[in-house]
Amino acid sequence: MKSIIITGGAGFIGSHVVRLFVNKYPEYRIINVDKLTYAGNLANLKDIEDKPNYRFVKADICDFDTMYALMQEEQVTGIIHLAAESHVDRSIKDPFTFARTNVMGTLSLLQAAKLYWEAQPEKYEGKRFYHISTDEVYGALEMTHPEGITPPFSTQASSEHHEAYGEDFFVETTKYNPHSPYSASKASSDHFVRAFHDTYGMPTIVTNCSNNYGPYQFPEKLIPLFINNIRHRKPLPVYGKGENVRDWLYVEDHARAIDLIFHQGTIAETYNIGGFNEWKNIDIIKVVINTVDRLLGRAEGEDMDLITYVTDRAGHDMRYAIDSRKLQAELGWEPSLQFEEGIEKTVRWYLDHQEWMDNITSGEYEKYYDDMYGKR
Ligand code: NAD
Ligand code: TYD
Repeated sequence: MKSIIITGGAGFIGSHVVRLFVNKYPEYRIINVDKLTYAGNLANLKDIEDKPNYRFVKADICDFDTMYALMQEEQVTGIIHLAAESHVDRSIKDPFTFARTNVMGTLSLLQAAKLYWEAQPEKYEGKRFYHISTDEVYGALEMTHPEGITPPFSTQASSEHHEAYGEDFFVETTKYNPHSPYSASKASSDHFVRAFHDTYGMPTIVTNCSNNYGPYQFPEKLIPLFINNIRHRKPLPVYGKGENVRDWLYVEDHARAIDLIFHQGTIAETYNIGGFNEWKNIDIIKVVINTVDRLLGRAEGEDMDLITYVTDRAGHDMRYAIDSRKLQAELGWEPSLQFEEGIEKTVRWYLDHQEWMDNITSGEYEKYYDDMYGKR
């Protein structure tokens, strides 16, 4: 019997991971630990909240005593750690919160797991501490794509991509070079996780994933923010020239990778997760505008004039691109969706779940948005 704490399970990616584990493994006990910050929303888990193998605990991962007591009470054998402050723009305004949750929170969980597991007769046998991180820790890549190439740069999760566009990707051995307070805090937490393996022999795994998109993402991130703004015909704030490149992965493909790696990944290894799906922001924004317009019965492209170029994000990383061939070769993972399908599904989901959107685009988030972009 596995008893697994999933932290940050009320957030975007965490809710997909909790749902997958609760439904797929009725014999496991799944304990979702979440502080319910502005980004945590139990409405993301309505469909599974009554399942007998699921428990929600509202708690702060920085609270060592509570984490330790919970591990004892639930006889925890595995931890999948997603809780974090996750938005770069917020980290620029408030780096301390990022250091507290992402660095100290991770350390608190590691230390609690260490003390609890080391006190067990079988110690680390059958245990696993799996830390979810980001490609942003690697820093930024140059734009190496041939001029004139049309997006997406590739949707082929294969070595063809490399043959066509060269080798300038993040691999598992790429040196860490974070630029934002967010990525610096995630990098620091990754180092602590590896240090707990190297120093104490804790069975850890770290994965670094590219940008996720899909249902339940908080609408401060590019795709849900823009879908909602297009619907309401509000300006779309494009940072700089909109030329920065991100590598997008459908969130359920990330959740499937996490399931696979949690069960079959090798201890102390790092795996990069990404779908070889790079897009310039402005190109993805145009796809989102066309899709929203079409699904709302408007003329495609009618809302292009909402695009509003604004001052660039400070320290804005130019390009992220993940090489996930290790995960594909060793564990046989592949992204299941082509981007065109994924974005269609995503836009449709947000348009069909306006109530979910309305509930969170009030109160605290509204205030934050107003502070960032001025009163609408
Ligand atoms: P999110 O902001 O949507 O959710 C974070 C969750 O953590 C929220 O439910 C929040 O309430 C919870 N949380 C925050 N501080 C907490 C604390 N102190 N104690 C307990 N819970 C706390 O984030 P997300 O986009 O789902 O990202 C999840 C993880 O995946 C993060 O670690 C992030 O760095 C990583 N990641 C995200 C992406 C992406 O594109 N979103 C890509 C790669 C990696
Ligand atoms: P975001 O969703 O915040 O993810 P990350 O910063 O972790 O990559 O942003 C994705 C890209 O979109 C990034 O290059 C910044 C850009 N962006 C905008 O141009 N305007 C916006 O309002 C937001 C939120 C992001």
